[in-house]
Amino acid sequence: MPSAIDVRSIRSVPNRPAVLGVLVASDRIPATGWDRRSLKKLGFEASTGQVATLINDAGSLEVLVGVGPSADVDVNGLRSAAATFAGAVSKHRSVVLVATEVLLDGALEAITEGLILGAYRFDRHKSAAAGALLERVNLVGTGERSDADAVQRGAIVATAQCWARDLVNEPGGSLTARAFADQAAERAESLGLQVEVMGPAEIEAARLGGLMAVNQGSGEEPRFVKLSYVPADARASLALVGKGITFDSGGLSIKPAEGMMTMKSDMGGAAAAIAAVCAIAELGLPGVAVTTYAPMTDNMTGGFAIRPGDVFVARNGKTVEVLNTDAEGRLILADVLVLASEDNPDMIVDLATLTGACLVALGDKIAGLLSPDDRAAELVGAAAVAAGERFWRLPLPEDYRKMIDSDVADLKNIGSRLGGTLTAGLFLKEFVAEGLPWVHLDIAGPAWTDSPGAEISKGGTGFAVRTLVELARAMGADTAPDAATATADP
Ligand code: BES
Ligand code: MN
Ligand code: ZN
Repeated sequence: MPSAIDVRSIRSVPNRPAVLGVLVASDRIPATGWDRRSLKKLGFEASTGQVATLINDAGSLEVLVGVGPSADVDVNGLRSAAATFAGAVSKHRSVVLVATEVLLDGALEAITEGLILGAYRFDRHKSAAAGALLERVNLVGTGERSDADAVQRGAIVATAQCWARDLVNEPGGSLTARAFADQAAERAESLGLQVEVMGPAEIEAARLGGLMAVNQGSGEEPRFVKLSYVPADARASLALVGKGITFDSGGLSIKPAEGMMTMKSDMGGAAAAIAAVCAIAELGLPGVAVTTYAPMTDNMTGGFAIRPGDVFVARNGKTVEVLNTDAEGRLILADVLVLASEDNPDMIVDLATLTGACLVALGDKIAGLLSPDDRAAELVGAAAVAAGERFWRLPLPEDYRKMIDSDVADLKNIGSRLGGTLTAGLFLKEFVAEGLPWVHLDIAGPAWTDSPGAEISKGGTGFAVRTLVELARAMGADTAPDAATATADP
């Protein structure tokens, strides 16, 4: 696990802390005379994300972070404000943060997440430490015993998200499929999950033709990882399928240099799905069994690489003509969607850094959400809103399906230049069991960013971990036994 900061709940503000943070709503700016005057001078209005630093009456360095009008404050705003705070105090070892004025439902959990996400650094390949010192935040909340549990829950989720970031940020040459699978299996085993790892022989025996096809050009072995969390009271089941391309050169349809530079991030879907199932297990979420399926390989150009025009057979018997070896994500996902369908879960959610077209359409802050099933789409959409992650639904137009008709096989792996995110989704749909609620998340944009924000780190972001945890929470908490097995309205 990454070395995260330590967040602890404390009952009251200690005497004269060296650094004292306060989350402040704009209609509750501290009323003490001296503070108020200096804040006015600093132009501090406690607007969202605004930071003011001053020396207070007690001689503490006081760092105020605005959260906007108290009527508008929500957990997502608090998470961001806490992340901004962590950034502002990164040069101090131990700080206090007061949240007593912003204690809405779920506040301490979100604030803890923000602190850990905002303090995230990826410096394991730096020979000298980057200068961040923050180790400990003492968080003042309601003062109730339950504060510690809220902090613990927030820490579990944020630490999982930071692990997903680490996996994405790790270079493709060191995070090979083998290394990725080993790390996932080790963590999952330590949490008591059921773990299954397949190597080349088992992958071939399982007829995962797409994974083998993509792996042909690599000097590295492929892996398939299956991690299951099954609580005693499981009534519902959720399958997560994550794209695990540890490096995407494009294969023989090679990418230009510019497009290849960030392609160690092409396993961001698998990283999020693996980190999420581990967090769900660590939280001990009730009511829902969660299984993560992750195919892993790099996409390289070796002498045995799959050639444009080659045909392979997927696990469900469908034949696929590979016309562009850079459309490899859908190939490794196809077999695994078949596998997941065979386990007959109540819902399948796949996550993949699948198309550059999705980045063009939605930018790097918003992911695409595609599903033929309105209820499933709404359930995932609601989880994303609760988690503070942004998705936008895109269609799966039936009349576009003919764009992936092949002259020689059942399907080809590319459409035209137009609507690339939609034809990729339509391709995946061919491998999901008919009628099984399924949601495809194209996270090509937000899995990686060059323009970080408060709780969004530069490079790998760990995007979708929180949404998946929320989804499992919602599915497990839902008392209606048929709630997760909805089918689309006609
Ligand atoms: N991994 C890429 C998609 C991607 C691009 C993710 C940029 C993040 C940033 C995927 O494997 C890919 O190369 N897709 C092709 C598909 C095309 C050949 C149909 C693309 O989007 O160009
Ligand atoms: Mn590709
Ligand atoms: Zn790719």
